[in-house]
Amino acid sequence: MTHEELLEKAKLAKQNAYVPYSNFRVGAALLGKSGRIYLGCNIENAAYSPTNCAERTALFKAVSEGERAFEAVAVTSDSDDITYPCGVCRQAMAEFSLDMMVISSNKDLKYNAVPLRELLPYAFTGKEME
Ligand code: THU
Repeated sequence: MTHEELLEKAKLAKQNAYVPYSNFRVGAALLGKSGRIYLGCNIENAAYSPTNCAERTALFKAVSEGERAFEAVAVTSDSDDITYPCGVCRQAMAEFSLDMMVISSNKDLKYNAVPLRELLPYAFTGKEME
């Protein structure tokens, strides 16, 4: 699975974004170690705080289906600028795979790929609690 292929899936996922408040559509495609791909979009809410980002939608779908480790996630939006996962999503994904590749892109799928570890240095992963 190339970065470009995963980004195309994220672009498809973006079509289902539910964004009546921001009108900012985001799509994510998460590649599990099993080889399965989980798609996610952002889902907004009139009360705002229940809003779920595209990345966490994909992550929660995957984890709820038994996937526990990930190779990569691709993210895209309608912006001219590259959209990177928010801090909450970085933390949520770090729970499972701090070394997964995060492929962040703009609306034309121009991308920057870096390991999650670089987007979330000194991460709190729970090891500290052992
Ligand atoms: N959003 C995402 O889905 N992923 C990101 O990486 C950044 C932000 C969503 C949340 C909200 O629906 C909209 O973009 C504006 O913040």
